[in-house]
Amino acid sequence: MPAILTPVKTKEDLLFEDSLRPQKFEDFIGQENVKTNLKIFIQAAKKRNENLDHVLLYGPPGLGKTSLAYLIAKELGVGIKPTSGPVIEKAGDLSAILTSLQDKEILFIDEIHRLHPSLEEILYSAMEDFSLDVIIGQGPGARSHKLKIKRFTLVGATTRAGKITAPLRSRFGIVHRLDYYQEEDLKKIILRSARILGVKIEDNGAEEIARRARGTPRIANRLLRRVRDFAEVKGDGRIDAKIARQALDQMEVDALGLDDVDRKILLTIMENFGGGPVGINTIAAAIDEEKETIECIYEPYLMRLGFLERTLRGRRVTPKAYKHLGFKPPADQKKLF
Ligand SMILES: Nc1ncnc2c1ncn2[C@@H]1O[C@H](COP(=O)(O)OP(=O)(O)O)[C@@H](O)[C@H]1O
Ligand SMILES: [Mg+2]
Repeated sequence: MPAILTPVKTKEDLLFEDSLRPQKFEDFIGQENVKTNLKIFIQAAKKRNENLDHVLLYGPPGLGKTSLAYLIAKELGVGIKPTSGPVIEKAGDLSAILTSLQDKEILFIDEIHRLHPSLEEILYSAMEDFSLDVIIGQGPGARSHKLKIKRFTLVGATTRAGKITAPLRSRFGIVHRLDYYQEEDLKKIILRSARILGVKIEDNGAEEIARRARGTPRIANRLLRRVRDFAEVKGDGRIDAKIARQALDQMEVDALGLDDVDRKILLTIMENFGGGPVGINTIAAAIDEEKETIECIYEPYLMRLGFLERTLRGRRVTPKAYKHLGFKPPADQKKLF
């Protein structure tokens, strides 16, 4: 995928992510339901002077999971220790992190679905009883001993909620799904980022970028930076709708934020498989992309646009997608809808 539209963090995003990350709950735009709920739980925990219940955040990349984890810590007025599933290799690593936590502190485990299954057991007793089972001694004389740890809050983030085992999931008291953003919210995010970056932008320029940002703040911020480059070179640096449109067209990001690969997926199903249904493995082979990438990155957005449907027999392109790409849906496919 051209890096410009990937929701996954790029090296260049890293440079900007800290400065653009919301610093207060009020800066965190959209996802009202999630915010309202979290604020109530946070207030309640503070009032009782207790640790916040464990929180699981899930949803596609770039929608604000990491940002929310940091905001929760800030709002609670506690520290946060960030780590991620694949980084924790051994039981000892996890135990060391858990015993180092202060009272009410946040342990943030990103990509928690990639945590090694053998470590989940340790997490269960830590989450439930705030204790660790440690083995003292060796051989027949070895004894198991319960070691108390501080009452902490685990915040887990994942892009693959389906990959979290039921026992782990059931230990989170607060579970929230982040959804793709509305255009108005992306527009607000773009205007805020432009302010921070010192970029001059018209309302209609922000709207044009928002429309093509695939409902994803990380992509919106990245497109803003690319359009800014274009505006500085081709214009006077000010971003309006016209400059934004020119820049985005040049990057082959279409009016709905589709790129080459999206178009390839839709066209392949339309041209080679009569619009579907066709299995995901066949599509992956036909366009030479990883099945995982198609499932996690492309399909969710195409489905959100109502361009693609998942059925038991495979993927199917909708009449709406035919129209967007300038084709007429085949007559025999129409009756399926
Ligand atoms: N609700 C939001 N309001 C403002 N900016 C946001 C919001 N959500 C995400 N962002 C921006 O998008 C970037 C990526 O968000 P991040 O929290 O890292 O996403 P995730 O962890 O879900 O991949 C952040 O650096 C931030 O600038
Ligand atoms: Mg993240």
